[in-house]
Amino acid sequence: MFKNRLETSYKRHLINLAVLISGRGSNMDAILSAIKSGRIRNANPCIVISNKPGTPGLKIASEKYGIDTKVIPSDGLKGWHYDQILVTTLHEHGVTPKSGLVCLAGFMRIISPEFVRQYRMRIMNIHPALLPAFPGLNAQKQALDYGVKISGCTVHFVDEGVDSGPVILQKAVPVTEGDNEESLSARILEQEHKLYPEAVRLFCEERIKIVGRRVSII
Ligand code: GAR
Repeated sequence: MFKNRLETSYKRHLINLAVLISGRGSNMDAILSAIKSGRIRNANPCIVISNKPGTPGLKIASEKYGIDTKVIPSDGLKGWHYDQILVTTLHEHGVTPKSGLVCLAGFMRIISPEFVRQYRMRIMNIHPALLPAFPGLNAQKQALDYGVKISGCTVHFVDEGVDSGPVILQKAVPVTEGDNEESLSARILEQEHKLYPEAVRLFCEERIKIVGRRVSII
């Protein structure tokens, strides 16, 4: 029983940060802004990687924050065939399993088990629903179609499943009468921009403890 219990704490040092995006990059912007303003200390943003060329997030990373960016196109490459290029790039920029943190911010690819195993509890993701409800794509639409009165967002560590890793932080958001996908997404996104930087801050302050799949803030 205890064999599978995983206890992890993080030693105090500068965390080398990578953000992986596929598009708009507003969550990436929120994280980088929190670092720039000093709200997140102990974080060293090293690289922003996109699987799609020409995404707005890349421009924000390089022009607004002066951070190195790289496009690794995913066309045709699946699973570890793609992720090993990612991992090599992360190492080249100092984002290692020992000193790094990888933030998926609207990165619309499923991470391979090999990548997860190498960076266990060092890959975070944000999802626009209260997991384990509505994992996968179009979470806001799933919530509306189901008819829930409350949805929200979740920051979690990435494990081998889809949106199934240990939950770090969640924020509830009401679904209101007359909401459509756009209005609900916008209301949730507002909270995502607070929640994700907060989770990164806690990680960088070594205040996240994981026992089994329960995350405590210490
Ligand atoms: C965000 O709403 C994020 O939660 C979602 O994509 C959007 C990316 O926006 N992620 C997922 O749905 C992952 N399953 P952004 O590029 O502006 O951060």
